[in-house]
Amino acid sequence: MERYELEEALQEEIRAKVFSPSFMKLVQSCRRGGGQFRISLRPVSIGGVVKYQAEMVNDGQVQVKNFDREKIAGGLEEIIAQKGARDLHLMTKEGDLHIRVTKKSHVLVSRSKAMNREFEVKPHDRVKNLPLNSFDSAAYLRVVGFADGEGKIRASMRGKYDQVNEFLKVVGELEPKKPDSGVFTIVDCGCGKAYLTLGLYFYLTRVWGIDNVKIYGVDRRQDVIEAARKMAKALDVENEVVFIQSDLADFTPAETLGGEKGSAPKVEMVVSLHACDTATDEAIAKGVEWRSRYILSAPCCQHELQKRLGEMSGKSVGAAASFGGLLRQSILRERLCDILTDSFRAMILRILGFKTQVMEFVSSEATARNIMLKAEYGVKPGQTGPVGEYLALRDFWEVEPWLEARLGAKLAKYLERYT
Ligand SMILES: C[S@@+](CC[C@H](N)C(=O)[O-])C[C@H]1O[C@@H](n2cnc3c(N)ncnc32)[C@H](O)[C@@H]1O
Repeated sequence: MERYELEEALQEEIRAKVFSPSFMKLVQSCRRGGGQFRISLRPVSIGGVVKYQAEMVNDGQVQVKNFDREKIAGGLEEIIAQKGARDLHLMTKEGDLHIRVTKKSHVLVSRSKAMNREFEVKPHDRVKNLPLNSFDSAAYLRVVGFADGEGKIRASMRGKYDQVNEFLKVVGELEPKKPDSGVFTIVDCGCGKAYLTLGLYFYLTRVWGIDNVKIYGVDRRQDVIEAARKMAKALDVENEVVFIQSDLADFTPAETLGGEKGSAPKVEMVVSLHACDTATDEAIAKGVEWRSRYILSAPCCQHELQKRLGEMSGKSVGAAASFGGLLRQSILRERLCDILTDSFRAMILRILGFKTQVMEFVSSEATARNIMLKAEYGVKPGQTGPVGEYLALRDFWEVEPWLEARLGAKLAKYLERYT
């Protein structure tokens, strides 16, 4: 037996653990061909059958493959027979096994204390359930630049691709339906390069079967609007997905004109994905004015309250007195501004009759700006509870949120009634 080889009993223990129902993961790291090599195995369920997913990282190059039990047995033998220094970590529901083979070929074995971990083999084909995988999206993915010529998602676009997928998931959770009459009108505020705008169109038409969708993508930048128009034309949807160069404040879709007071909303849904600063507030205000049923907004940078809280820093009265230590640190002040701004937005929407949820719509790896305000019209506006909460928070911080000023009398009538 070579010195780096594992004892037969240890080899058997690894095999038994990997093929047991409580197997969670095995990771082995070593040096191979002068570079760092890492292999991990985990069970995945594909179409209800348990397979083994192997991820190999060879000097930064990642390769992922799924194997059935027979094939992975050969791979496991290679892992066990690996020569030289290495680290092996094997996890099962009952505990961990660590094996370290040193440069001098000493084999060091340690085991965690007995555990009783919760673990469930996740269905790997859930990836197929991503909104952008649930219809033939090849042309869309290529035209917006998410996919390369071979249809693979470009690494540089992965973050935005994930954001759009997760945004569409939230849309799907609303179970959108064909309106009884008229057109399902949507406005994407600050649409930029139209990733979401076009994705939303195909998702609603292809997956939800809503054939009379009209989407306006609005952005103040002429260059992105021209690029978006070209993409819509390339995808043959330029009549259904219309791009308008305008400041949001100046935009009114034709469908909202001439609607009777109290009639069905003319813009069914307003969306915004990282519209800058107060453009998010403008999108929300437009959604309110257009009597939209849904407002889905993932905010971006927020500068509006920064100045005011910056001024408070160092003062010894009111909120500044209690929060001095926090306000002095610019990064904490910035985060507090984000939280306060989104709280005010959510509270204002609630006052105006929207059931509102603030959620993380996508992982923080896809974007640090991963908060979404998800609002659906349908609760009694102007209730004293939400109005009282809003006023208490606003007055504590002695600020006037931009959205309150923007909504003017529409909101003021509820706030005045309370005071
Ligand atoms: C960070 S980009 C996001 C673009 C796109 N929604 C996305 O997620 O890829 C923000 C976009 O909002 C646009 N924008 C910001 N303020 C705006 C305003 N007041 N009116 C119209 N567009 C605005 C910018 O021009 C920019 O294209």
